[in-house]
Amino acid sequence: MVYSIEVQDLIKRFGDYEAVAGINFSINKGEVFGLLGPNGAGKTTTIRMLATLLPPTSGRIFVEGLDVRRHGGLVRRLLGYVPQALSADGTLTGYENLLLFAKLLRLGKGERERRIDELLNLLNLQDAAHKLVREYSGGMVRRLEIGQAILHRPHILILDEPTVGLDPVARHTVWNTLKQLREETGLTILITTHYMEEAEATCRRVAIMNRGRIVAQGTPEELKRATGKPDATLEDVFTFYTGDQVETGGSFHELRKTRLRVQRFN
Ligand SMILES: Nc1ncnc2c1ncn2[C@@H]1O[C@H](COP(=O)(O)OP(=O)(O)O)[C@@H](O)[C@H]1O
Ligand SMILES: [Mg+2]
Repeated sequence: MVYSIEVQDLIKRFGDYEAVAGINFSINKGEVFGLLGPNGAGKTTTIRMLATLLPPTSGRIFVEGLDVRRHGGLVRRLLGYVPQALSADGTLTGYENLLLFAKLLRLGKGERERRIDELLNLLNLQDAAHKLVREYSGGMVRRLEIGQAILHRPHILILDEPTVGLDPVARHTVWNTLKQLREETGLTILITTHYMEEAEATCRRVAIMNRGRIVAQGTPEELKRATGKPDATLEDVFTFYTGDQVETGGSFHELRKTRLRVQRFN
Protein backbone atom coordinates (compact mmCIF):
# COMPACT_ATOMS: atom_id res chain seq x y z
CA MET A 1 0.00 0.00 0.00
CA VAL A 2 1.21 3.50 -0.79
CA TYR A 3 1.21 5.83 2.20
CA SER A 4 -0.12 9.36 1.97
CA ILE A 5 3.10 10.51 3.56
CA GLU A 6 6.22 8.53 4.33
CA VAL A 7 9.24 10.05 6.05
CA GLN A 8 12.55 8.18 6.23
CA ASP A 9 15.54 9.21 8.34
CA LEU A 10 14.74 12.87 7.90
CA ILE A 11 17.35 15.33 9.17
CA LYS A 12 17.48 19.13 9.10
CA ARG A 13 20.45 21.08 10.39
CA PHE A 14 20.69 24.82 10.73
CA GLY A 15 24.44 25.32 10.94
CA ASP A 16 25.54 23.00 13.75
CA TYR A 17 22.10 22.78 15.22
CA GLU A 18 20.08 19.68 14.43
CA ALA A 19 16.45 20.80 14.50
CA VAL A 20 15.20 17.48 13.08
CA ALA A 21 17.47 14.64 14.08
CA GLY A 22 16.51 11.63 11.97
CA ILE A 23 12.81 10.89 12.15
CA ASN A 24 10.64 8.18 10.60
CA PHE A 25 6.87 8.00 10.32
CA SER A 26 4.16 7.23 7.84
CA ILE A 27 0.58 8.37 7.48
CA ASN A 28 -2.18 6.27 5.94
CA LYS A 29 -4.69 7.61 3.48
CA GLY A 30 -7.66 9.28 5.16
CA GLU A 31 -5.99 9.34 8.56
CA VAL A 32 -5.82 12.29 10.98
CA PHE A 33 -2.24 12.21 12.24
CA GLY A 34 -1.00 14.44 15.06
CA LEU A 35 2.59 15.60 15.36
CA LEU A 36 2.86 16.65 18.98
CA GLY A 37 5.67 18.30 20.85
CA PRO A 38 6.78 21.21 23.02
CA ASN A 39 8.05 24.47 21.55
CA GLY A 40 11.28 23.98 19.66
CA ALA A 41 10.71 20.24 19.17
CA GLY A 42 11.07 20.56 15.38
CA LYS A 43 7.43 20.24 14.32
CA THR A 44 7.29 23.28 12.05
CA THR A 45 10.64 22.44 10.50
CA THR A 46 9.36 18.94 9.74
CA ILE A 47 6.14 20.00 8.08
CA ARG A 48 7.86 22.77 6.12
CA MET A 49 10.06 20.07 4.61
CA LEU A 50 6.99 17.97 3.82
CA ALA A 51 5.32 20.96 2.21
CA THR A 52 8.41 21.46 -0.02
CA LEU A 53 9.13 24.85 1.58
CA LEU A 54 12.44 23.80 3.09
CA PRO A 55 15.01 21.36 1.68
CA PRO A 56 16.01 18.51 4.03
CA THR A 57 19.66 18.09 4.98
CA SER A 58 19.21 14.37 4.39
CA GLY A 59 16.60 11.66 4.39
CA ARG A 60 13.62 11.11 2.16
CA ILE A 61 10.01 12.16 1.99
CA PHE A 62 7.40 10.49 -0.18
CA VAL A 63 3.96 11.91 -0.81
CA GLU A 64 1.65 9.28 -2.29
CA GLY A 65 4.79 7.46 -3.31
CA LEU A 66 6.34 10.48 -5.06
CA ASP A 67 9.81 11.52 -3.92
CA VAL A 68 9.42 15.15 -2.83
CA ARG A 69 12.94 16.01 -3.97
CA ARG A 70 12.26 14.93 -7.52
CA HIS A 71 8.56 15.70 -7.91
CA GLY A 72 8.15 18.96 -5.95
CA GLY A 73 5.68 20.40 -8.43
CA LEU A 74 3.40 17.36 -8.44
CA VAL A 75 3.63 17.01 -4.68
CA ARG A 76 2.62 20.63 -4.13
CA ARG A 77 -0.61 19.97 -6.00
CA LEU A 78 -1.43 17.09 -3.68
CA LEU A 79 -0.93 19.19 -0.56
CA GLY A 80 -2.80 21.97 1.16
CA TYR A 81 -0.87 23.89 3.82
CA VAL A 82 -2.19 26.13 6.57
CA PRO A 83 0.78 27.91 8.18
CA GLN A 84 0.70 29.08 11.77
CA ALA A 85 0.97 32.72 10.78
CA LEU A 86 -2.09 34.52 9.48
CA SER A 87 -2.58 33.90 5.77
CA ALA A 88 -5.95 35.56 5.07
CA ASP A 89 -6.22 39.23 4.10
CA GLY A 90 -8.17 41.18 6.72
CA THR A 91 -9.05 43.98 4.34
CA LEU A 92 -10.99 41.64 2.06
CA THR A 93 -14.16 39.66 2.69
CA GLY A 94 -14.02 35.90 3.14
CA TYR A 95 -15.52 35.45 -0.29
CA GLU A 96 -12.91 37.77 -1.85
CA ASN A 97 -10.06 35.90 -0.17
CA LEU A 98 -11.32 32.64 -1.64
CA LEU A 99 -11.89 34.29 -5.02
CA LEU A 100 -8.30 35.49 -5.07
CA PHE A 101 -7.06 31.94 -4.53
CA ALA A 102 -9.47 30.61 -7.15
CA LYS A 103 -8.17 33.13 -9.68
CA LEU A 104 -4.58 32.19 -8.91
CA LEU A 105 -5.61 28.63 -9.73
CA ARG A 106 -6.98 29.91 -13.05
CA LEU A 107 -10.33 28.29 -12.47
CA GLY A 108 -13.11 29.31 -14.86
CA LYS A 109 -15.91 31.51 -13.51
CA GLY A 110 -18.46 28.71 -13.11
CA GLU A 111 -16.02 26.38 -11.39
CA ARG A 112 -14.82 29.21 -9.14
CA GLU A 113 -18.32 30.00 -7.95
CA ARG A 114 -19.10 26.33 -7.45
CA ARG A 115 -16.05 25.59 -5.36
CA ILE A 116 -16.28 28.75 -3.26
CA ASP A 117 -19.95 28.10 -2.55
CA GLU A 118 -19.22 24.51 -1.61
CA LEU A 119 -16.42 25.56 0.75
CA LEU A 120 -18.38 28.35 2.42
CA ASN A 121 -21.05 25.75 3.20
CA LEU A 122 -18.63 23.12 4.36
CA LEU A 123 -16.81 25.59 6.61
CA ASN A 124 -19.99 27.16 7.90
CA LEU A 125 -19.07 30.61 6.68
CA GLN A 126 -22.03 31.38 4.40
CA ASP A 127 -23.41 34.14 6.62
CA ALA A 128 -20.01 35.79 7.00
CA ALA A 129 -18.96 35.43 3.36
CA HIS A 130 -19.37 39.12 2.57
CA LYS A 131 -18.02 40.53 5.81
CA LEU A 132 -14.46 41.82 6.11
CA VAL A 133 -12.13 39.18 7.51
CA ARG A 134 -10.74 41.62 10.08
CA GLU A 135 -14.17 41.42 11.70
CA TYR A 136 -14.06 37.61 11.87
CA SER A 137 -13.47 35.72 15.09
CA GLY A 138 -10.23 33.71 15.35
CA GLY A 139 -12.07 30.47 14.64
CA MET A 140 -13.70 31.91 11.52
CA VAL A 141 -10.34 33.12 10.20
CA ARG A 142 -8.86 29.67 10.71
CA ARG A 143 -11.79 28.05 8.89
CA LEU A 144 -11.37 30.47 6.01
CA GLU A 145 -7.66 29.64 5.85
CA ILE A 146 -8.53 25.96 5.68
CA GLY A 147 -10.78 26.85 2.74
CA GLN A 148 -7.94 28.67 0.99
CA ALA A 149 -5.71 25.66 1.52
CA ILE A 150 -8.14 23.13 0.02
CA LEU A 151 -9.60 25.13 -2.85
CA HIS A 152 -7.38 23.22 -5.27
CA ARG A 153 -8.75 19.93 -3.87
CA PRO A 154 -5.58 18.48 -2.41
CA HIS A 155 -5.47 14.92 -1.04
CA ILE A 156 -3.55 15.91 2.08
CA LEU A 157 -4.06 18.89 4.38
CA ILE A 158 -1.21 20.00 6.64
CA LEU A 159 -1.92 22.42 9.48
CA ASP A 160 0.61 23.99 11.83
CA GLU A 161 -0.84 24.62 15.30
CA PRO A 162 -4.19 25.78 13.91
CA THR A 163 -5.78 26.21 17.32
CA VAL A 164 -3.10 28.29 19.07
CA GLY A 165 -4.46 31.56 20.36
CA LEU A 166 -8.10 30.52 19.94
CA ASP A 167 -10.60 30.32 22.76
CA PRO A 168 -11.93 26.85 23.64
CA VAL A 169 -15.15 27.27 21.65
CA ALA A 170 -13.27 28.37 18.52
CA ARG A 171 -10.78 25.52 18.96
CA HIS A 172 -13.67 23.12 19.09
CA THR A 173 -15.19 24.47 15.87
CA VAL A 174 -11.85 24.14 14.07
CA TRP A 175 -11.47 20.50 15.12
CA ASN A 176 -15.07 19.81 14.18
CA THR A 177 -14.48 21.31 10.77
CA LEU A 178 -11.45 19.07 10.30
CA LYS A 179 -13.39 15.97 11.35
CA GLN A 180 -16.21 16.85 9.00
CA LEU A 181 -13.77 17.49 6.15
CA ARG A 182 -12.15 14.14 6.65
CA GLU A 183 -15.50 12.38 6.70
CA GLU A 184 -16.93 14.17 3.70
CA THR A 185 -13.87 14.36 1.46
CA GLY A 186 -11.57 11.56 2.69
CA LEU A 187 -8.75 14.08 3.15
CA THR A 188 -5.64 12.91 4.94
CA ILE A 189 -4.84 15.41 7.70
CA LEU A 190 -1.50 16.09 9.36
CA ILE A 191 -1.72 18.50 12.24
CA THR A 192 0.77 19.81 14.75
CA THR A 193 -0.50 20.83 18.14
CA HIS A 194 0.42 20.95 21.79
CA TYR A 195 -3.14 20.65 23.04
CA MET A 196 -3.19 17.04 24.14
CA GLU A 197 -6.93 16.75 24.82
CA GLU A 198 -7.68 17.90 21.28
CA ALA A 199 -5.19 15.50 19.75
CA GLU A 200 -6.58 12.69 21.84
CA ALA A 201 -10.12 13.35 20.69
CA THR A 202 -9.40 13.65 17.00
CA CYS A 203 -6.13 12.01 15.92
CA ARG A 204 -6.15 8.34 14.98
CA ARG A 205 -2.40 8.20 15.51
CA VAL A 206 0.12 10.59 16.98
CA ALA A 207 3.88 10.99 17.08
CA ILE A 208 5.44 12.77 20.04
CA MET A 209 8.45 14.83 19.09
CA ASN A 210 11.06 16.18 21.45
CA ARG A 211 14.35 17.91 20.58
CA GLY A 212 14.23 16.83 16.97
CA ARG A 213 13.39 13.19 17.64
CA ILE A 214 10.21 11.17 17.68
CA VAL A 215 10.13 9.69 21.14
CA ALA A 216 6.86 7.78 20.85
CA GLN A 217 4.25 7.03 18.23
CA GLY A 218 1.04 5.07 17.98
CA THR A 219 -2.66 5.47 18.69
CA PRO A 220 -3.44 7.55 21.77
CA GLU A 221 -4.73 4.31 23.36
CA GLU A 222 -1.46 2.46 22.72
CA LEU A 223 0.62 5.29 24.13
CA LYS A 224 -1.52 5.58 27.22
CA ARG A 225 -1.36 1.84 27.84
CA ALA A 226 2.43 1.94 27.56
CA THR A 227 2.66 4.23 30.60
CA GLY A 228 1.30 1.36 32.72
CA LYS A 229 -1.21 3.64 34.43
CA PRO A 230 -4.83 2.70 33.76
CA ASP A 231 -6.12 6.25 34.01
CA ALA A 232 -3.33 7.96 32.06
CA THR A 233 -4.28 10.78 29.71
CA LEU A 234 -2.37 11.76 26.59
CA GLU A 235 -1.13 14.75 28.57
CA ASP A 236 0.53 12.29 31.02
CA VAL A 237 2.08 10.42 28.11
CA PHE A 238 3.41 13.70 26.78
CA THR A 239 4.96 14.70 30.11
CA PHE A 240 6.37 11.20 30.48
CA TYR A 241 8.22 11.40 27.16
CA THR A 242 9.18 15.06 27.06
CA GLY A 243 10.29 15.17 30.70
CA ASP A 244 11.05 18.24 32.73
CA GLN A 245 13.46 19.95 30.37
CA VAL A 246 14.87 22.12 33.14
CA GLU A 247 17.45 23.71 30.85
CA THR A 248 14.84 24.91 28.36
CA GLY A 249 12.75 26.50 31.06
CA GLY A 250 10.38 23.75 32.13
CA SER A 251 8.33 21.19 30.26
CA PHE A 252 5.53 22.27 28.07
CA HIS A 253 3.18 20.92 30.66
CA GLU A 254 4.60 23.37 33.17
CA LEU A 255 4.60 26.16 30.65
CA ARG A 256 1.00 25.52 29.85
CA LYS A 257 0.00 25.46 33.48
CA THR A 258 1.78 28.77 33.89
CA ARG A 259 0.00 30.22 30.89
CA LEU A 260 -3.35 29.08 32.17
CA ARG A 261 -2.56 30.62 35.54
CA VAL A 262 -1.50 33.85 33.89
CA GLN A 263 -4.70 33.95 31.86
CA ARG A 264 -6.74 33.55 35.00
CA PHE A 265 -5.04 36.57 36.56
CA ASN A 266 -5.54 38.76 33.53
N1 LIG B 1 15.62 28.95 9.96
C1 LIG B 1 16.15 28.54 11.13
N2 LIG B 1 17.43 28.82 11.46
C2 LIG B 1 17.95 28.39 12.62
N3 LIG B 1 17.29 27.68 13.55
C3 LIG B 1 16.00 27.39 13.29
C4 LIG B 1 15.35 27.80 12.08
N4 LIG B 1 14.08 27.35 12.09
C5 LIG B 1 13.94 26.71 13.27
N5 LIG B 1 15.08 26.73 13.98
C6 LIG B 1 15.29 26.11 15.31
O1 LIG B 1 14.96 24.74 15.22
C7 LIG B 1 14.29 24.31 16.40
C8 LIG B 1 12.95 23.69 16.03
O2 LIG B 1 12.08 24.73 15.61
P1 LIG B 1 10.61 24.46 15.10
O3 LIG B 1 10.63 23.45 14.04
O4 LIG B 1 10.01 25.78 14.78
O5 LIG B 1 9.94 23.82 16.42
P2 LIG B 1 8.41 23.71 16.81
O6 LIG B 1 7.57 24.01 15.62
O7 LIG B 1 8.25 22.31 17.29
O8 LIG B 1 8.19 24.69 17.93
C9 LIG B 1 14.17 25.52 17.30
O9 LIG B 1 15.21 25.46 18.25
C10 LIG B 1 14.36 26.68 16.36
O10 LIG B 1 14.94 27.77 17.02
MG1 LIG C 1 6.09 25.41 15.33
